[in-house]
Amino acid sequence: MFDEERSAEVVAASFAGTPDPRLRQVMTSLVQHLHAFVKDVELTEEEWGVAIDFLTRTGQLSDEVRQEFILLSDVLGVSMLVETINHRTGGTSTESTVLGPFHMVESPVRDLGADIALDGKGTPCLVSGRVTGPDGEPLPGAAVDVWQTNEDGFYDVQQPGVQPAGNLRGMFTADEQGRFWFRSVVPRWYPIPDDGPVGQLLAATGRHPNRPAHLHFIVAAPGHRPVTTHVFVADSPYLDSDAVFGVKESLVRPVHEVDDPARAAEVGLPNPFCTLTFDLSLLRAGQEPPATNPGGRSR
Ligand SMILES: [Fe+2]
Repeated sequence: MFDEERSAEVVAASFAGTPDPRLRQVMTSLVQHLHAFVKDVELTEEEWGVAIDFLTRTGQLSDEVRQEFILLSDVLGVSMLVETINHRTGGTSTESTVLGPFHMVESPVRDLGADIALDGKGTPCLVSGRVTGPDGEPLPGAAVDVWQTNEDGFYDVQQPGVQPAGNLRGMFTADEQGRFWFRSVVPRWYPIPDDGPVGQLLAATGRHPNRPAHLHFIVAAPGHRPVTTHVFVADSPYLDSDAVFGVKESLVRPVHEVDDPARAAEVGLPNPFCTLTFDLSLLRAGQEPPATNPGGRSR
């Protein structure tokens, strides 16, 4: 029978006959943690009602272009935790971070050196790097998919009719030495959509909705594990308080200003310009990084 003291035990037992062992494990653990939480805070009936209303509104705001539940997961750090658990590198390759909600269109295929800043706004920046395997061997022909905000802090898909379609996006193919380079502008920090229940939660708890300046990458090469990641701009505001907890120290790079008319002419940018370098290393397909499981039980 249900009573306060044994509530988790009783409800967890109701899942004992779940045929799928993983579903049984997840539901049992969920019930244990959820009941412990309710007891810890001694949830009032009014607060329970607020929570139901909050979750209802979160669902009602979600559709194919706006996913408020993912945003909720993001600001609670759950997206980042799931990402981190499932893509451990053991320090042997480029770390991953959240995909984010703005990779909703295919990046236009562009030649190395192309300018992805179609609107001509912002501080010119040469972005370059090298894609290698775990032993530093170059990965010729690696696919390098990039997307970023303009200098106002918006992605093209957020401003149809304002920004040209495909602005600040590109799909590049690394050269025979695994190198890639393209022209762009320095990305800017931006707020996640904060006009819904998640924004209300942030406001009520005194949190800001901002993410530090970054450039998104998905890099893939045959025979290797692809990586979905960002490079973060060193010294960007909010680097130490990313609203979605996406920053990893190993992904922060400085933006350097270069005052060199000859070099500017060579790369096709006005002088002075900025540079941002981001080298990436991929694990081999099937190569498992050292497994660590600091918080949980082993499976
Ligand atoms: Fe982003």
